[in-house]
Amino acid sequence: MSVHVQNSRMTTAKLRQMKANGEKIAMLTSYDFTLASLVDEAGIDMLLVGDSASNVVCGNQYTLPITVDEMIFLTKGVVRAAQHSLVVCDMPFGSYQVSEEEAVRNAIKILKESGCDAVKLEGGEEILPAIRHMIQAGVPVMGHLGLTPQSVNQFGGYGLRAKEDAEAEKLLHDAQLLDEAGCFSIVLEKIPAALAAKVTKAVSCPVIGIGAGNGCDGQVLVLHDMLGLNQGFKPKFLRHFASLAGEIKNAVGDYINAVKDSSFPSAEESY
Ligand code: KIV
Repeated sequence: MSVHVQNSRMTTAKLRQMKANGEKIAMLTSYDFTLASLVDEAGIDMLLVGDSASNVVCGNQYTLPITVDEMIFLTKGVVRAAQHSLVVCDMPFGSYQVSEEEAVRNAIKILKESGCDAVKLEGGEEILPAIRHMIQAGVPVMGHLGLTPQSVNQFGGYGLRAKEDAEAEKLLHDAQLLDEAGCFSIVLEKIPAALAAKVTKAVSCPVIGIGAGNGCDGQVLVLHDMLGLNQGFKPKFLRHFASLAGEIKNAVGDYINAVKDSSFPSAEESY
């Protein structure tokens, strides 16, 4: 008797097929088991354990301080939650820029210890040798171009990137290099929609946009932003699909009142 095991997990090959079919790809960040389980059950295609965890989880101003071990710790919980989606872990600042050898060593460490499916790293031609070595070593790599938050100190802020022709041309060239090197996907962050659409047509791998318009193969948002948990942050590209900050504060307020007026716990809630 033959046993047929159905593999319903997302793969890089399926993502390519989705691009070929014109089927949009939905990606969200996740940083813990409980929320990742809900997002996975809802049917997301890819979960990104972004180094935005540095801001969202740790409360840092920038993504720069988070470490490889901290990313691995968070990614393990997300991997345990992911029944269907493909899990990508961001390589943090400093883990792939020093040398190709160190980049490959860190990428392998992240894959082995966290159990994720792929890594993402920021940059184009400058980090191409590291990307080539990782792919040769069998590590699936997602690129990230445009606004790359690990370079915030070079950019001098989080403004729109590639507005001028020279930067737009470099971005298109970088995307083609990443595609030729074998990146399974590329994130484009905060660039003009027309440029993102041009890049999406010019490369064979799926392109995922954030603040890059509707011409990409898919979209990614930071989960806490789109759920309306992060009240102070509302850039033009962000849509709030829920307003959970208010709901959480109301629930916590109700709990505090119930404790203070002794209505919680009731007899039914007691042993
Ligand atoms: O770290 C992150 O959350 C990201 C996304 C914004 C793409 O890189």
